[in-house]
Parts: sequence; structure tokens; C-alpha cells
Amino acid sequence: MSEAKRLAGEKAIDYVEDGMIVGVGTGSTVAYFIEALGRIKHRIQGAVSSSEQSSERLRALGIEVLDLNSTGTLSLYVDGADECDPHKRLIKGGGAALTREKIIAEASRRFVCIVDSAKRVDVLGRFPLPVEVIPMARSLVAREILGMTGGQPVWRQSEDGKGVVTDNGNAILDIHGLSIVDPVALESAINQIPGVVSVGLFARRAADVVIVGGEPPTVL
Ligand code: 5RP
Repeated sequence: MSEAKRLAGEKAIDYVEDGMIVGVGTGSTVAYFIEALGRIKHRIQGAVSSSEQSSERLRALGIEVLDLNSTGTLSLYVDGADECDPHKRLIKGGGAALTREKIIAEASRRFVCIVDSAKRVDVLGRFPLPVEVIPMARSLVAREILGMTGGQPVWRQSEDGKGVVTDNGNAILDIHGLSIVDPVALESAINQIPGVVSVGLFARRAADVVIVGGEPPTVL
């Protein structure tokens, strides 16, 4: 699949225009986009990054990382996804960067999502839905989501057996066993639970363009 990810990441360069400040997501597909962006870095002003991981990659290539508070609205945001439905609604957050990703998606006029074909589904939910939570609310949010959806919340652990800590200092719950027939409604309902920072459903603000990596890439 990494070849498909590379093809999707490189195709997204078509959407970059001279002088742009580009919003940049997180993950292995985005890593290919960043690599390609490095080759045309003289054409852009800089990037707004959704994670420490992507910031490091951008800086290593000599691309300036700018603060969203000083850039205002962005013309373009490029990011991957864990699942994508036919309406370009997404599950994101497999890389634990969902909150900053959501902020940049909201701040951008055009959201180009880059995926390989394995990410395409008819109904979202096979991929466990990530929810970023304030640490003290972890169990409360888990109980509320279990009651609300019947899905099974699992506290995400890192390889060393400790709870994953996001770039914002929070925890992640992954909700297993969902079949999300109304993603907009579920996104709002989960957002209402005190202690939820953000939910990895991108339904209210879905992608505008989806590029599925292949030879040639498919643009939806
Ligand atoms: C990170 C994300 C990523 O976009 C998502 O997990 C896809 O990652 P990859 O491109 O590595 O498959 O939402 O929070």
C-alpha cells in the first residue's frame, strides 16, 4: 500500500499554488506529500502543521512551520484518513493528531484528503473511532459513549504499555464495533460530552477532494 500512498501524496501537489501557506496533516501518506512539498518549497511561503511529527519532517526539509494564529484562513489543507465514505466523510486520528487536524481542516477553504483504496468504505466505523479526552474524564467519557452507542471504548496504549499522550497532553479512546449510519449526528453527540476534546469523525467538515492513490490516482 505504500506505493499507493506515495502516488496519492504526490498527486496532491497539483493543488499547491505559488505563494501558498499549506496546511499539512499527519501520517505515512502525508509523509509522501511532505517529501514532494520539499521539492517545490521555493514556491510556497510555508506550512501550518497538525503535529510535532509533521513539523519535524517539514523543518528537516527547510520548510518554515507557521502558527495558525498568524496565518488566518488557509487555502489548502492536505491530510490522510483512516476511513473515507462515499460522501467524503472521514474517520481520522489513527496517528493521535485528530484535534489539530480538525482545527486546520476547519481553518481551510479546501481540504484534500489522500488515501489508498483500503481506506474506502460504504459505512464508517470498521476502523475504531478515536476520541481525544482530557485525562481526568477518560472513564466518564468511556461510560457515556458505551451507553450512547454500544461501541466498546479502549484506552489507547503506546508500545511501552503506557497510555498514549497526544501533542496536547491528553488521552485517546478508540471506540470499537460501531456502524456509523449518521456521522454528523454522532459527531455532535460525542462533542457534547464534557471532557471530550475532539472526535475523529470529520463529517460536519468533510473533505472537499479525495485522492485515491493508484496508477493513475483517482480524484473523487
Ligand atoms: C493521524 C491521521 C492520519 O491521517 C491517519 O491515521 C492515516 O494515516 P496513514 O496515512 O499513516 O495511513 O488521522 O491522526
